[in-house]
Amino acid sequence: MAWQRQHGRHDLPWQGTRDPYRVWLSEIMLQQTQVRTVRAYYARFLTRFPDVQALAAAPLDDVLALWSGLGYYSRARNLHRCAQAVRAEHGGAFPRTATQLQSLPGIGASTAAAIAAFCFGERVAIFDGNVRRVLARYLGFDADLSQARHQRALQQQAQALLPDGAHAAHDMPAYTQGLMDLGATLCTPRAPDCARCPLRADCVARREGRPEAYPVRTRRLQRGAQALWLLWLEDAEGAVWLERRPVPGVWAGLHCFALFDDEAALHGALAQIGGVRGVQALEPRVHALTHDLRLHPFRARLEARRPPLPLPGGWVAADSIQTIGMPAPIRDLLLQKQV
Ligand code: ADE
Repeated sequence: MAWQRQHGRHDLPWQGTRDPYRVWLSEIMLQQTQVRTVRAYYARFLTRFPDVQALAAAPLDDVLALWSGLGYYSRARNLHRCAQAVRAEHGGAFPRTATQLQSLPGIGASTAAAIAAFCFGERVAIFDGNVRRVLARYLGFDADLSQARHQRALQQQAQALLPDGAHAAHDMPAYTQGLMDLGATLCTPRAPDCARCPLRADCVARREGRPEAYPVRTRRLQRGAQALWLLWLEDAEGAVWLERRPVPGVWAGLHCFALFDDEAALHGALAQIGGVRGVQALEPRVHALTHDLRLHPFRARLEARRPPLPLPGGWVAADSIQTIGMPAPIRDLLLQKQV
């Protein structure tokens, strides 16, 4: 934290505020876009939509227009939906815990943690790629992070390292920003600048003389890695629409959400379905198979009870989901585990 105050970044436009609207907006923009690009978009966005009420009241087209050029437009759609959910379900004020924040459209675990830590001082660890790298090196964590259980183990250590004691809430913003800044400025993927690092005395990777060997990942996301769009449909009573996957193919014989090759195909199928109450894009996730598979889940709730659908598959009652064969990432989604 001392290093962050002296050497960290202090000129970012979303710093120096505890307004969750501003922090949320910056975190969503920064998910897939560089700081350099985000600056200008962020300023224009705030001029047009200064608070969550203004955003919730705007037509979606205005939001998409301001987003134009940033890419990953589901972020803009979710932003708009999230603003409306804050207005409708939280009286116009963002909820104050990472758990509640995560239930909002487009807010995944790490984004929720960043907002809760920066704005409300909650003791919750952010866990993005930069932070994983810093912590893996510092701790000498050499288990393979392409396996979910090792990610969870490192995340538990991240949580254990958080500031505690009487000043914890006060310290959380500088601690969180400090980790981000270390990852962005010194503890870079290549040629980390260990000589200037505040953690150099205790850093295991440095002591071993091989900081770049961490984090350990045996399976990397290859260029052109496969991506799938998943449609998680629930009826009025929580029954889920599942298709038994054809053999051969991905997840052959297992029960799975409807799968699509791109976002447009998924929306095309959704448009054929009546009585859709809400569609939510969930955080994309990578599933490590023999190759990495990038999954883009969308969740939609239907008003009716078990309506017939123009898709292969059928309705499965919520309480029988535990007992049928499903691919692990689908089961994790259904059980709301964040991997
Ligand atoms: N990337 C994600 N969150 C960030 C933040 N608060 N500052 C700089 N880069 C970030």
